[in-house]
Order: sequence, then C-alpha cells, then structure tokens
Amino acid sequence: MPVKPRKILVSNALPYANGSIHMGHLVEYLQGNIWIRFQKLRGHQCTYICASDVHGTPVMLKARELGISPEELTEQVSAEFLRDFSDFGIEFDNYYTTHSPENEALVGEMFETLRANGDIYTKTIEQAYDEKEGMFLPDRFVRGTCPRCGTDDQYGDACENCGATYTPADLIDPISVLSGSTPIKRDSEHYFFRLSQYEQRLRDWMQSAALEKSVLAKLEEWFETGLQDWDISRDAPYFGFRIPGTDDKYFYVWLDAPVGYAASFRNLCDRRDDLDFDEYWRPGHDTELYHFIGKDIMYFHTLFWPAVLQGAGFRTPTSVFAHGFLTVNGQKMSKSRGTFINARTYLDHLHPAHLRYYYAAKLGPTIEDLDLNLDDFAARVNSDLVGKLVNIASRCAGFINKRFDGQLATELHAPELHATFADSADEIAEHYERREYSKAMRVIMALADEANRYIDEQKPWVMAKDEAQLGAVQAVCTQGINLFRSLMIYLTPVIPGVADDARAFLQEQHWHWDDAKTPLLGATISQFKPLLTRVEPEQISNMVKQSKQS
Ligand code: 2FM
Ligand code: ZN
Repeated sequence: MPVKPRKILVSNALPYANGSIHMGHLVEYLQGNIWIRFQKLRGHQCTYICASDVHGTPVMLKARELGISPEELTEQVSAEFLRDFSDFGIEFDNYYTTHSPENEALVGEMFETLRANGDIYTKTIEQAYDEKEGMFLPDRFVRGTCPRCGTDDQYGDACENCGATYTPADLIDPISVLSGSTPIKRDSEHYFFRLSQYEQRLRDWMQSAALEKSVLAKLEEWFETGLQDWDISRDAPYFGFRIPGTDDKYFYVWLDAPVGYAASFRNLCDRRDDLDFDEYWRPGHDTELYHFIGKDIMYFHTLFWPAVLQGAGFRTPTSVFAHGFLTVNGQKMSKSRGTFINARTYLDHLHPAHLRYYYAAKLGPTIEDLDLNLDDFAARVNSDLVGKLVNIASRCAGFINKRFDGQLATELHAPELHATFADSADEIAEHYERREYSKAMRVIMALADEANRYIDEQKPWVMAKDEAQLGAVQAVCTQGINLFRSLMIYLTPVIPGVADDARAFLQEQHWHWDDAKTPLLGATISQFKPLLTRVEPEQISNMVKQSKQS
C-alpha cells in the first residue's frame, strides 16, 4: 500500500561544546539517525537538524583557560563533532550553532511575546558569589561537605554519596571551584518564566503527544510535586545572549538551547526553497516535529520547552522520544577501566557499522539503560552481520560472477520464499516507526537464518559440478542474492555504508523501502567484495588500552 508522504522535522539533542563525543552520546545520535534514515527510505520528506550547544559558564571558562574566545573554541569543537558524526554515518541536513543571529532573534521574539503576555517577572534572589573571580557561581562550581551525610567535596546541588539534593547555601564549608575562596551570598535580580501557570496546557499537550509510558510517569510525578517558575537569566560574565533592555543579564543557556532547534531549521530554510519555517514552527500545519533526547533532559523538553513554545505562539512537538543511559560491561563508563571510549577512539579501531548494528540490536523505545558488553558486542556482530548476513551474498555471488558473467537469472528459484521476505516489510517498518529497533533486528536476522537454510538445502556448490544443473545454480544463487538484497534494504537505516556498498555491488542507483518487495532479475551485478570483516578481540583490547591512556 503506498504510504502518504509525511513532512517530518527531527532533532537530536544539541551536544554541549566542552567535551568530545563518546559512546554514550552515540546512543542518542544513532537512535535518531536510524529513525530519520528509515523515514527517508520510506519516501517521506524528512529534515534532520542539530547544532552545537555553546552558551553558558563551562564553555566561557574553558575558552578563558585556553586563551581563546568562546566563538573560536566552539568552532573548533563543532568541527570535531561534525567529523565524528560524519564518520559514523550521522549526516544532518543542517548542523549549526546556538550562537547564531537566527537564534538570538528567535529567543528575543519568544521572550518579548512571553513578557507581553505576563509570563515573565523579575525577582531578587540570593546566590553564591566568588569575590576573587568577580562572578556568581553555578551550583556545580561550588563544592563542600554534604549537609545530610557529611561526605566532603560534594557538588553544590547534590551529594554523590547519599543522593541528597540541596542548594550551595546548604553546603558545609563551601568553596569556589574557581578560586578556592569561600563564596559569599549576594543578591541579584533574575527573570522568571511562569511555568506554574502551564500545568493544564502541558497536560493537554502530554495527552496529544503520545509520550512513552515511562516519560508520562515522570511527568505525572512532576505535576504532583508542583511546577515551579523557572529562572531564565544569568548574570555577567556569561557567554550567551544579553537580555534586551539590560546591561549585565543574559538568557540562561537552557532557554536558548532548544530554541537552537528552530534556529538551525530557519538557517536551513534560507538555503532551501522547499522548506518553509512557519509550516514547521507555527501552529495549524500538517507537519510533524520530534525531538530525540536522553532521559536526563526530559524536564527541559517535556515541561519548559512545550510551555515556552505555547506561550510564545509557536507549535509544540508532536512527540519527544527519550532514551536511557549507556553502561559499558554493566557499569558506568570509566576512564580508569578504559570504558570511557570516545567516538574517535572507537573509529581508530573498529568499523562504524559494528556499533550501529549493536546499538540497534539492543535499542527499544523506553528510557531503560543500554549495556554495551564488549564481549557480547564482538560475538553479536560476528554472528549476525558477518556470519549470517554478508555470508548469504558471499555464498552466492561467486557462482554468478564466475559462471554466469555476473548475470542474474530472469526468474527466482523459490518465489514463495521471496514473498515471505517481502511480507515482512510492514512488520519491520512498524518496529522501526515505534523505535523498536531490537525487534526489527530480530525479525531481519530470523529471515537471514531462513536464507542461509535455503542455501544449505539447495547446495549450489554440489549442483555446480553437474553441467546439466547449471541453470538451477543460476536460479538458486539469484534467489540467494535477492534474499540478501531485501535484507540489506531493511537494514539500510542501520548500516547505511554497508548498504551503499551492497547496492553498488548490485549496480542499482537508488533503493526505496518498497524495492525489497520486487526482485532484481536478469540484471548484471559487479564482482563481489567482502562487505564487512569480523571484530577481532585485539581490536577491542587496543581500543580499551587507548581509552585508558587518553
Ligand atoms: O544535555 C546536553 O548536553 C545539552 N547540551 C542538550 C541540549 S538539547 C537542546 F535543548 F538544545
Ligand atoms: Zn550526602
């Protein structure tokens, strides 16, 4: 059944520009990237945006430490991010920065509308201030002894030992991380957004957004605690956008970061005639907007962001998709164990398709954590991708290349088996659509098992010894290659680079999802080259060794 083309805008969370992309980030970007590639393969008009999230105190201080401007720092970091993303096959339609004129204009517009509607007010609050450095301190820049359990050297917002949450003022013997001095308390006027007025509107949005159960549960919990107004300003010095009409107040990075989604899209619209900003960002249009995020930033995306959008006269997200955290070998990533692995370190040792497939094989739509078990990773990739999938083609291609001059037969040997593969298209598509990637991979690998069983039974290598059976050899191998082809089409969102090579081997220009249903017959194919190699134990141990050293 032809599917009606949809207009979809998708974002990944904007990576913060003060570190490197690591295996944990990649859960997020690969989950989003697989979904968008799936939608594009289905023929939908799908736009994929991202940007570096660059404002705030950590970037400002890091730049100061390096003796460069925050702009320079974030340009360097963005270039590094982009290389990592691109080498993992994560290609955005636009990758931008939150420090852009488009973003400043949009944040300003939203703020003025909210203010005009009475959603903004100012209030004087008391905050930790470092007199030596001459600046107010974010909670994370104050450390001291936990007021509940007495553990020393804890952050100003929470205790890592007992889990207590508090403010820096509650810490015993607080010190500034920046200067080592004791912070004083100082008054400052801040701007607040009346989130407390948005409960009903957020409840309405939440019903329509078809959020995942665990996300809904979290929202319910927050509603029960009661929504607090949100402090959206920070004092100078700060790297960010100055609040109009002030000299020394800036918008808090978490206000302008999500607006960066819209700004990245606006920047793209300026270069693309087929995209219209209002169609995707103003209410009343038949377009869809989705944000892929980690579970740690749900509060920002399911409360603040939809409330700000509604209040400022923008459309709200169609849905927000949250994922869990990554553990490696069952534990939090750790530098000393060598399991805090950067994207680049991984790429120095292993193929991106290995990780893309492994994450897909483990990912579902919930906020449950995902474990990258390095032994299981090697076993799974070797067995599924190399042992099952690529093997189908390599068992059949040699005969077609050598005995039939690369020519496929004009008929399938077992059309009913191909029909079984074609009939699975809808089920697999449904799994992708719901972000049930692990289920999609299970269905695909069960089909790969069937394809291998078929070749085992037919034994083309035995038939090929008998000249009278040559026609059957061509038909059986054509069958095998077509089963492989359908599976590669289904796997295109997950292992796009390998799928491109497979398509080139079959000498086809494009693939659409529905091509999996129609066999490729009578065509000439290229010489088969191995599409993927096995993961070897030394590659993993070298990667871990390098991660320990860096
Ligand atoms: O959590 C983070 O790393 C943030 N930089 C994500 C921002 S997402 C969006 F709001 F910009
Ligand atoms: Zn404690």
